Amino acid sequence: MCGIVGATARREVSEILLEGLRRLEYRGYDSAGFALLDADRNLLMHKRLGKVAELEQAQKLEPLHGCVGIAHTRWATHGVPSAANAHPHLSGNRVAVVHNGIIENHEALRSELIAAGYEFVSHTDTEVVVHLLHRELAAGKDLLQAMLDTIARLQGAYALAAVDAEHPEEIVAAREGSPLVVGVGIGEHFLASDPLALRQVTDRFIYLQEGDVLRMTPTSLQLMDATGKPVTRPISTISVEEDTGGRGHYEHYMLKEIHEQPRALAATVPVEGAREIADSVFGERAAEIFDQVRAVQIVACGTSYHAGMVARYWLEELAGIPCNVEVASEFRYRQRVQHPGTLLVTISQSGETADTLAALRNATDPEFIASLVIANVDHSSLVRESDLVYLTRAGAEIGVASTKAFTTQLVALLLLTLVLGRRNKLDAETAAEIVGALHQVPDCVEKVLTREAAIREMASAFILRHHALFLGRGIHFPIALEGALKLKEISYIHAEAYPAGELKHGPLALVDADMPVVAVAPGDDLMEKLKSNIEEVRARGGELYVFADEKAGFPEAPRVHVLGMPDCPEVLKPITYTVALQLLAYYVAVQKGTDVDKPRNLAKSVTVE
Ligand code: G6P
Repeated sequence: MCGIVGATARREVSEILLEGLRRLEYRGYDSAGFALLDADRNLLMHKRLGKVAELEQAQKLEPLHGCVGIAHTRWATHGVPSAANAHPHLSGNRVAVVHNGIIENHEALRSELIAAGYEFVSHTDTEVVVHLLHRELAAGKDLLQAMLDTIARLQGAYALAAVDAEHPEEIVAAREGSPLVVGVGIGEHFLASDPLALRQVTDRFIYLQEGDVLRMTPTSLQLMDATGKPVTRPISTISVEEDTGGRGHYEHYMLKEIHEQPRALAATVPVEGAREIADSVFGERAAEIFDQVRAVQIVACGTSYHAGMVARYWLEELAGIPCNVEVASEFRYRQRVQHPGTLLVTISQSGETADTLAALRNATDPEFIASLVIANVDHSSLVRESDLVYLTRAGAEIGVASTKAFTTQLVALLLLTLVLGRRNKLDAETAAEIVGALHQVPDCVEKVLTREAAIREMASAFILRHHALFLGRGIHFPIALEGALKLKEISYIHAEAYPAGELKHGPLALVDADMPVVAVAPGDDLMEKLKSNIEEVRARGGELYVFADEKAGFPEAPRVHVLGMPDCPEVLKPITYTVALQLLAYYVAVQKGTDVDKPRNLAKSVTVE
C-alpha cells in the first residue's frame, strides 16, 4: 500500500527520501514522487508512474536539491495509476501534501473547493487536502494551525505530511487510521509510514498515536493529541536484528524468508528447553483473563486468517475450547452472537490491517472478555490497542506473500492452545509432548528445506497451467488453502482449495489432464479417505502432486507424483507442509518470471478498507 517518507535537515535530503521509498517498495505501489523545498523557497517536484527507479532516473536527469522534503509511493484507490495522480499533490505552488488512507467525504469537499475557485488536476481524494490546507494558509494561519483546521474537515483514514514554501524548515503531519512514525536524528528529523524506511538514517523512533498532529523542524518536535493538548511520546530504539539485512545471496526476499523460518520459529518459541509455557508470555494480565475464557473468536485477513483456521482445530481438539474463525471484513459488519466468556483473538503480520483493526475496535465489552493479538510488528496499532499481545519473532517480512509470519503465527497459536488447554481438556503428558515438539520445529523445517531441489523440479509442471486444485482434509484443509493462496498470489495461476471430501460436490467436474491437483496428504487418520479422493482424480485423467509423509510410503503411479516429506511430530505437520507449499509456489513463480516479491495489484500491508 502507499508509503510516506519525509525529512527536514541541514543537509541535502533527496537521497534519503529516495532510499526511504526504495525500502518501502515491498509494500506494493504503482507510482512514486517527491517534493523538495530549495534554498530559495521554491517547491520542486518529480513524479513518475511505475517504479522508484523511474523516479531516480528523473532525479539523475534533472537533479532537484533541498533540505526539506516529502515523498510517497502510491497504491491507487481513487483515480488510475498515473503521474498526475501520484503524490505529492500541490496547491498554489506553495504547499505540497502526501497522504496514505482514504478521505471519505472528498466529493463534497471537492465541490466546495471548486466553488471557491480551486482547480483540480488529479482524480485523487488527496487533492482536496492540499487545497484545504492552502485555503487555511492563505487566510494567514501558520502551517500547524492550517493542518489542524484541515483535518477537522476530513472524514476517513489518513496519514498526512505537508510542506509549505512559506514555512521553509517545517514538516507538519497528522495521523488518523494510518500509521506514522518520526525518526529522531541529531539535528535532523524524519518521518515515515514504516520505520523500515528510515533505518539507514536512525534507529530511534517515536510512534504517533491515533489523532496525533506533529510539527517538526531539524531541531524541534511539537506533538499534540487529538484534543489539541501538547503531548510527549516515548522514543523507542529498534535493534539491528529487526532490520531486514537485505536479500543476502538470495534472488528474492521470499526465498530468503522461507529459509529464515527455522531461526524465526526458534525465536518465537518462548524459552528454549522449557517444559511448560507460562501464561505471562501473553502479557501481564494473561492468567486472570485466560481463567475466564470459555470460547475463542479469531479474526484476521489473508494468510493470517488461514493461521486462525488451523488454530480452530487445535483449540477444539486439543484444548476442548469452542472456536470460531472469520475474515475481518465480514466480521466487522455483521450482527454477531458470542458465547459468554469469549476471548477475541486477532492475527496480523503487520498489526495494521485496516479491517482487522476495525474489527478489534468494534468488538467491545460485553461481547468479549478481552482481546489478544498475535502480531509480528511491535508498536503496531493492533499491538497497542489489544489487552494481551504475543509478538511473533519472524523479523521484518518483505515479500508480499507471507511465509515466515504465517508459520510463526502457528507457533503462537499452538502456545495459546497449550495455556488455554491446561485449564480444560489438555492433560499434562500431551502438553509436555507438544512443548517438546515445539522445540523440534526448527530442525523439522530444516529437513523440509532439504527437499527444495525436488520441489523445484515438481514446480516446472505447473508453469503452463492456468488452474490448479489443492486438496486437504482436517487440519490440512487450511494448509491446502494457504498453498493455493501462495500459488495464485505470486504465479497468477488460478488456484482453489477444497476439503477433499467436497471433491465430488463440484470441483471434480473441472478435473482433466490440464488441471493439476495438489494433495496435502500427511499420514494422519484421514489418509485412507484422502487416498480414495486421489483415486477419484486419477480416474478422471487428472495429474496429481501428492505431498505425503515419506514413511507412509504413498505409492507412485502413472500421473501420481509423490513428494516425500520428512518425519516430524504430528502436531508440527501444518507448519512443515506449509513450507513445502511455499517452495512450490515460489519456484512456479520464478519459472514463470513473475515479480515474486511484489506481485501485481497486491500490497503487503492493507491499511485501507
Ligand atoms: C495482505 C498481504 C497478505 C496478508 C494480509 C493480511 O493481503 O498481502 O500477505 O496475509 O494482507 O495482513 P496482516 O498484516 O494483517 O497479516
